[in-house]
Amino acid sequence: MSSALKEFTPKADVPFYQATGHEEQLFETAWQRKLPLLLKGPTGCGKTRFVSHMAAKLGVPLYTVSCHDDLTAADLTGRYLIKGGETVWVDGPLTRAVRHGGICYLDEVVEARKDVTVVLHPLTDDRRLLPLDRTGELLEAPDNFMLVVSYNPGYQNLLKQLKPSTRQRFLAAEFDFPDARTETDILMRETGIDHDAAEILVRIAGAIRNLAGVDLEEAASTRLLIYCATLLKAGVSFDDAVKAAIVEPLSDDADIKAGLHEAIGIIRG
Ligand SMILES: Nc1ncnc2c1ncn2[C@@H]1O[C@H](COP(=O)(O)OP(=O)(O)OP(=O)(O)O)[C@@H](O)[C@H]1O
Ligand SMILES: [Mg+2]
Repeated sequence: MSSALKEFTPKADVPFYQATGHEEQLFETAWQRKLPLLLKGPTGCGKTRFVSHMAAKLGVPLYTVSCHDDLTAADLTGRYLIKGGETVWVDGPLTRAVRHGGICYLDEVVEARKDVTVVLHPLTDDRRLLPLDRTGELLEAPDNFMLVVSYNPGYQNLLKQLKPSTRQRFLAAEFDFPDARTETDILMRETGIDHDAAEILVRIAGAIRNLAGVDLEEAASTRLLIYCATLLKAGVSFDDAVKAAIVEPLSDDADIKAGLHEAIGIIRG
């Protein structure tokens, strides 16, 4: 099975997630009403953290699959493997979640191959069925099964959009970077840096986000700010930290990088 597949059963401690709207209520209602959920938003804005947080809060296993362009339906459903001279069926993460209950989270779902949607369709309408052609089984999803998918609408091309017949099977929520105050809190909470340092990083991100689309493919994410704050907390100098955690990850272009350093210098004062 692909190394991109990760199985994780949440423990009693719930990963920290700072809500930015009513997303927790939406998730809980979707869970109770057995509706699938699609999360969209830029890289590093908290989608994965949100799903881990909700799975832990609800006390259910989470099966995360990072989709890529080689991912096939069999990677999700399972396959026959040879073990000790015998052929045995091994469930994939989606089948495990359907068989035993839990949340199956398909990250970057638009990257997956077309045959994956064939598997998802009967599971995401009111039938909630997973047909396993190879074993001849037709599994009915239990009440405590939920499918969550996410993607980043920014860097996909047109061919990689989900078909309307797939999209319209999901409730959908748009994620974005938190407002300045919330993001400052997240940085302090995640890394232990002080308020003033966190605030400067958030102001830098705000300025860079306003440039995004002009010079940069993607804006500075909350994830990059966390990296930067982690370096600062470890004693790395401000200049080295912003270079390694913000400027270099965002661009390879010398002019753009110089522009970013200049903008950061102005904000830092
Ligand atoms: N609302 C939030 N509450 C707590 N932490 C957050 C929040 N938003 C972002 N983070 C922090 O930012 C990091 C990156 O978020 P996450 O990995 O969830 O992004 P993502 O949206 O899944 O990105 P990608 O599309 O690249 O997978 C997290 O590890 C966490 O430290
Ligand atoms: Mg993610």
